Amino acid sequence: MNGRDAMLGANGKKPLVGLVGWRGMVGSVLMDRMEVEGDFDLIEPLFFSTSNAGGAAPRGDAPLADAYDLGALSRCDAIITCQGGDYTTEVFGRLRAEGWNGHWIDAASTLRMQGDAVIVLDPVNMDVIKAAMARGGRNWVGGNCTVSCMLMGVGALFKAGLVEWMSTQTYQAASGGGAQHMRELLTQYGALNGSVADLLADPKSAILDIDRQVLARQQAMLGTDESKQFGAVLGGSLIPWIDKDLGNGVTREEWKGMAETNKILGLGPDAVGGSDAAAIPVDGFCVRVGAMRCHSQALTFKLKRDVPVDEIEAMIAADNDWVKVVPNNREDTLRDLTPVAVTGTLTIPVGRIRKLAMGPDYVGAFTIGDQLLWGAAEPLRRMLRILIQA
Ligand code: HSE
Repeated sequence: MNGRDAMLGANGKKPLVGLVGWRGMVGSVLMDRMEVEGDFDLIEPLFFSTSNAGGAAPRGDAPLADAYDLGALSRCDAIITCQGGDYTTEVFGRLRAEGWNGHWIDAASTLRMQGDAVIVLDPVNMDVIKAAMARGGRNWVGGNCTVSCMLMGVGALFKAGLVEWMSTQTYQAASGGGAQHMRELLTQYGALNGSVADLLADPKSAILDIDRQVLARQQAMLGTDESKQFGAVLGGSLIPWIDKDLGNGVTREEWKGMAETNKILGLGPDAVGGSDAAAIPVDGFCVRVGAMRCHSQALTFKLKRDVPVDEIEAMIAADNDWVKVVPNNREDTLRDLTPVAVTGTLTIPVGRIRKLAMGPDYVGAFTIGDQLLWGAAEPLRRMLRILIQA
């Protein structure tokens, strides 16, 4: 985009937008959302492939371009990639080194904590995005899915400066691992069900016999292809470890909770352009559970002062168009505050909001988000729109 205006389409022409990794799970969700929102009407898309250059593209007449062809990539005004971190590592630096000055919009975590990369979540940090755009920012990265979904739900409390610290205990879906992980989970569930199908069909069978046989089948999965994606059995179990071991007892997923939350909010040393404001402590445990594609979180807030629950609910509800406060009762919770209720929607329910026994400054909440939508695809397509409409 050398010599061209920083804003996409400012010269009256539709911007040429390269799409990489559009066939994978996140990429497919992104394509669907772009279709639904009419994004393709505003751009000239150029589809890339890492494995099938020359093949047919999903839209238009142009064949698939080679995703490793720096010449083809550098023609683009913007590139959106859902191809993954290895691709970003291999291509991004070389493309910039050759002088490409377009907008790079990336789902992978590779560049997230780089000083010149903004973690994009515009309903929460439009001010950070706009400030970076004004400085000529070109690197836009989607946040960790758990962090993005959490901030879409309770960002209001952070924006109001109310949070002294937050602890989050997550219940993360199989999709966070990838498509193969979702398949593995369902295959495990099927195998477990099959192992006791006869006993289940007999209402007089003993539940402890069923339990024993299920456990034996789960244990038989260990170390086999049946559990190779997760490295442990998830069906009928859980895994209190997500992502890499940082060597200090903290998982990389847990580390992201504090690092990315603060970077998104423009707080602390990692904030784009630096910030004198202290980072807010965020910590807790990240746990994989047998949900399909919604990440859930139980949140504990230590607020800086005693704020009534109805005020907290009103602040959360007013924060953006997608958050929905679920009244803290059984009926509403079972209807609206489950992964099944949220999957495939952009709604971010926040429920179970109540003061905790530790004192009036302590507040609990439970929130859920579709990790493929607000957790991955949606902030990317919205960033493209911001660049086009700026
Ligand atoms: N790291 C997340 C998970 C997914 O494993 O659930 C992507 O942010």
